[in-house]
Amino acid sequence: MQRTVLLLGSTGSIGTQALDVIRRNPDLFRVVGLAAGGADPRLLAEQAIEFGVRAVSVAKATSAEDLQLACYAVAQQRGYNRGEFAVPRILAGPESVLELIETVPADIVLNGITGSRGLASTLAALRTGATLALANKESLIAGGSLVTGLAKPGQLVPVDSEHSAMAQCLRSGRADEVAKLVLTASGGPFRGRTREQLTEVTPEQAMAHPTWNMGQVITINSATLVNKGLELIEAHLLFDVPIKDIDVTVHPQSIIHSMVTFTDGSTIAQASPPDMRLPIALALGWPDRIPDASQPCRWDTAASWTFEPLDEVAFPAIRLARAAGECGGCHPAVYNAANEEGVAAFVDGRVPFLAIVDTIEQVLNRADHWRSAPQDLNEVLAAEAWARATARELLGVAIDASGV
Ligand SMILES: NC(=O)c1ccc[n+]([C@@H]2O[C@H](COP(=O)([O-])OP(=O)(O)OC[C@H]3O[C@@H](n4cnc5c(N)ncnc54)[C@H](OP(=O)(O)O)[C@@H]3O)[C@@H](O)[C@H]2O)c1
Repeated sequence: MQRTVLLLGSTGSIGTQALDVIRRNPDLFRVVGLAAGGADPRLLAEQAIEFGVRAVSVAKATSAEDLQLACYAVAQQRGYNRGEFAVPRILAGPESVLELIETVPADIVLNGITGSRGLASTLAALRTGATLALANKESLIAGGSLVTGLAKPGQLVPVDSEHSAMAQCLRSGRADEVAKLVLTASGGPFRGRTREQLTEVTPEQAMAHPTWNMGQVITINSATLVNKGLELIEAHLLFDVPIKDIDVTVHPQSIIHSMVTFTDGSTIAQASPPDMRLPIALALGWPDRIPDASQPCRWDTAASWTFEPLDEVAFPAIRLARAAGECGGCHPAVYNAANEEGVAAFVDGRVPFLAIVDTIEQVLNRADHWRSAPQDLNEVLAAEAWARATARELLGVAIDASGV
């Protein structure tokens, strides 16, 4: 049966790959609505016309007119006459994505927005009863028990390749047979460097991920290993496994996307070449697999898969994530918000690379008053606002000290 899909973040790395999966499986999926920030109205218009969607949301209100004009231009370019295509309903403004979710029913909402600004969308999608295919891990981490408490069993399906891998491995045994989750990390572009060797690295170097081609924030997060820290908390929240029972191992080839060790000593791993279309397709089709979603591993050529322990001194992001995850409450939201501020300052060339994670640590050290579980979205937003302001203050100190 064909499933309808609302795609949030359609112009991004996850969004465009999701559309590629849907384009190749028109019998299985139909896009009914798109949402994006508004940075590229032309691309959004091309997607809207190609998929014939009913409604499009654009967060930047000033992009609405450009989007409408671009829809007509794209339709004309494709040779459509007036009446041969429907211009989608355009919803504009920061809250318009919520209106899209609430007014355009869909079987699946794929949240591919970047950052914890996706939290309200995650909560709104869960309230509709749709399956939530979640790429926007930051919303789960920031929302914590608000998100897990709202999700019905099976409603939240991971898109992250690691959590998709774990979900697949977990099919091999019962929950009470799970001993450990093993999260794999590529190690990012700076694997093997000491802390001293990281002092001078540039945003361009941090953007050169060895195995994955992703959006800017997640790529920088992969260089600091904050992404792995977020994924650790994500795994804990998704699968209800204690943080202490989640190991991280560095696997530079990014072929094994994660593993589960069972109580009898057996470890089940999920392997496939790095290609996000596989976990995206599985999330859209869950629990069914989508044939030919990506190329499988080849066994007719020599290959080596290696594993090494994490260097916690050069990359303290995972130690900090463990502490934030174990503390719970709003600490994961604080961890993420402080990081988002640090990444923005680093990308702008205002602070050095190491300031990102150093700032997370300093903000968490001051966050004792954010230990209780949030009662509602406003409490999460308040914790985030505090974390962002504190991080900006500390990053300002870092800027002054570096003389930038
Ligand atoms: N890329 C990957 O391979 C990958 C893998 C695993 C998990 N993830 C996760 O997936 C999420 C998206 O990552 P990405 O790499 O695809 O990021 P990205 O390339 O930066 O794309 C982000 C998308 O979100 C849109 N967006 C931004 N603000 C919005 C708003 N307020 N309302 C609606 N849409 C908005 C952007 O539109 P504009 O460009 O117009 O602002 C863009 O379409 C992140 O949480 C990331 O951690 C990504």
